[in-house]
Amino acid sequence: MKILVLGSGGREHALVWKLSHSPEVDKIFCIPGNAGISSLAHCVEIKDTERILNFVKENKIDITLVGPEAPLVNGIVDKFEKENLKIFGPNKEAAMIEGSKVFAKLFMEKHGIPTANFRVFESPNAAEKYFLSTDFPIVIKADGLAAGKGAFVVKNRDEAFEVIDKVMRQKLFGDSGDRIIVERFLKGREVSALAFCDGKSIVPMVSSMDYKKAYDSDLGPNTGGMGAIAPAPHYTKDIASITIRNIFLNVIEGLQREGISYKGVLYAGLMITENGPKVLEFNCRFGDPETQVILPLLKTDLSHVVQAVIEGELAHCPVEWFDSVSLCVVAVSQGYPLKYRKGFKILGLNEIDDDVMIFHAGTKRTDQGIVTNGGRVLSVCATDSHFSKARARVYRSLKKIRFEGMRYRKDIGANLSDSSSEFHRSVEVTP
Ligand code: AMP
Ligand code: GLY
Repeated sequence: MKILVLGSGGREHALVWKLSHSPEVDKIFCIPGNAGISSLAHCVEIKDTERILNFVKENKIDITLVGPEAPLVNGIVDKFEKENLKIFGPNKEAAMIEGSKVFAKLFMEKHGIPTANFRVFESPNAAEKYFLSTDFPIVIKADGLAAGKGAFVVKNRDEAFEVIDKVMRQKLFGDSGDRIIVERFLKGREVSALAFCDGKSIVPMVSSMDYKKAYDSDLGPNTGGMGAIAPAPHYTKDIASITIRNIFLNVIEGLQREGISYKGVLYAGLMITENGPKVLEFNCRFGDPETQVILPLLKTDLSHVVQAVIEGELAHCPVEWFDSVSLCVVAVSQGYPLKYRKGFKILGLNEIDDDVMIFHAGTKRTDQGIVTNGGRVLSVCATDSHFSKARARVYRSLKKIRFEGMRYRKDIGANLSDSSSEFHRSVEVTP
């Protein structure tokens, strides 16, 4: 079987790595890929969807797997399906669950899915008027895609006015800020709960948690993710079963009722509050860096799961997980998530022990060797029976890797308990 993976991050390297273990996968392509992916897959630089379609036909690629959200929200799945080409991911209508926060919040309200109370505003003046009478803290979110940077926790009225100015007047995220959500601030601990969905059934993945803030002790600005662990020890069996029933099954059933079939990965960003799990956001894809900790725990051949999702056969595809824990730390360029420079040579990659995995993100192969090519550069990952052991190996390896301006958080997975009592099973939804 020939598989194409779209994307260039650590998530895509982990997907390609896992697929490369499948006896049924003969060849992997990646568009555009990165230096790490290029040692496992044939990487090609193509931007335009029509040309990607032609590439798939010319190379007789059996399945395309989409990593990032933007192509999904822009309808790449619909274009492939129109040409009878197999692709893994939700179609344009279903991807709205990530593409529009207003759509997602109204959908949750309509179908009784637990989430923070919210208001939608289409004009900056109306939002500012609301801030005169509301309590703080609150969370302001741009409606459309904003590369993970569109949510602002604000502590007072001045900060709220500043965000409205940036997002709605100065259009920091372009059209994505034409509408905004203002929602109640939720207290609790976060979990990334992901599930495979084939439109009828869901199979939960092992839970995970990413570390979003740039600096240790959760300080500094939000990033795409500075590290991750799996499973999340605070995602207990009880919370998992509430999440599956009240969130995942409700979403799939609600979408079915609206005539939308959701196929691919559904990622629920949750806050586990004292009143149970509540949805912060949905993503229509695998998480990054969550995928780098989830896939090493997947025992089943990923290509089988991908095919089962596409064929609508997930209920008949046993998905098994290793009973271990997994941890990953992301090494970033100096300045990330703000301005950073690229092109610094990365040293020490050959000195890493075999029991640690390096998933590349912003890296590029040049005549001088592998150089940095993005904000998040590498994720260093390990699995073990205990977080403390995986953590020690990851941090030992990070000491061997060097590039100018390299930085990483020192507290990923610190002080975690090793319990993991959740369950993973296929859940059928009756239409
Ligand atoms: P989102 O893009 O909606 O996932 O938001 C990004 C991050 O902002 C989340 O991972 C949380 O850390 C924080 N956040 C978003 N919404 C809320 C909320 N209602 N209460 C508290 N924190 C939130
Ligand atoms: N780690 C957050 C995300 O993938 O959206």
